[in-house]
Amino acid sequence: MTSTNQTEPSASRPQFYETLEALPSTLSDVLTTYSGIPKDAQLHHVVKLRNEAYTYFPYPCIGTFRFLEFDLASHYAYREHVLSPLKTPCSDGAAEPLFLDLGTCLGQDLRRLVYDGALIHRLWASDIEPKFIELGFKMFNDADKLPADHFLCPGNLLSNSPDDKLRVLDNRVTILHLSAVFHLFSLDDQKAVADRCLRLLRKDTGGPVLVLGGQVGSQNPGPYERRNASQDYTHKYRHDERTWKELWDNVCGSDAWKDKIKKLEVKSKLLKRNKVKGESGEVTVFTQLESGSDLGWQMYEVWVTFS
Ligand SMILES: C[S@@+](CC[C@H](N)C(=O)[O-])C[C@H]1O[C@@H](n2cnc3c(N)ncnc32)[C@H](O)[C@@H]1O
Repeated sequence: MTSTNQTEPSASRPQFYETLEALPSTLSDVLTTYSGIPKDAQLHHVVKLRNEAYTYFPYPCIGTFRFLEFDLASHYAYREHVLSPLKTPCSDGAAEPLFLDLGTCLGQDLRRLVYDGALIHRLWASDIEPKFIELGFKMFNDADKLPADHFLCPGNLLSNSPDDKLRVLDNRVTILHLSAVFHLFSLDDQKAVADRCLRLLRKDTGGPVLVLGGQVGSQNPGPYERRNASQDYTHKYRHDERTWKELWDNVCGSDAWKDKIKKLEVKSKLLKRNKVKGESGEVTVFTQLESGSDLGWQMYEVWVTFS
């Protein structure tokens, strides 16, 4: 496999690629066999949808087509701790797994789970932007396959309102996924998001439940300035392994949670994201981040056992 640079950002919009030479092969397989979209129509279909999504919110992961890469399926814990429990019928008396994709956007990770054989009734997704959910159904052409009421929207991770759609799943989730979500927020807001995650998790399984995902991380952790959609500067926070663990230690050790949590295990790895050309097209491969390079992709698992 060799490095490739097929897609170039435009000079005026560094986080926006005009188009792609080809779709990643797994996405193309999903669109063919799950969505029923013919191969020769797929690229046009995806670029058109991406352009529409970008007009609503110009996230770099949309502009650069990163959302086509199925981050959850690339996570080192995916097969054993996500897919396997979601595919396997429940043994008598065991708690049935329930998966929630928070900040799902176009919902590609959820569709990949369905494609890989997860049981649909165990899968849920949520986002603050209803338009993303609508576009996800359009992209995957699957309004007849997935229950619309499993897409909780608007669900705001920073809201405590009793009317927020996410409240439906309080105390019910056993596998909680957030990809490219924590890095959108300041450290204080990340603490609020971690607290929201804890409230969503199921407390009575008698064993550990999982929060997992990925985000931009840094070997030089700390706040950094970034412009938001209205071009105002805001502070976000990037983590390394130490600060990520500190965040969870801090929230789980707070007065609200310390007596309710028996055990907390926080693991993460800062990795380099590489796009490489394989036999069946371009694929994303994660490798060790070289020392001296600042930014990486932080994959994490947070295991929580409630008292
Ligand atoms: C950078 S995108 C990542 C999307 C997707 N998880 C992925 O990996 O492609 C972040 C997502 O979080 C959602 N989001 C932003 N703020 C949120 C909030 N306060 N509550 C819930 N979702 C939020 C956005 O609408 C967007 O879909």
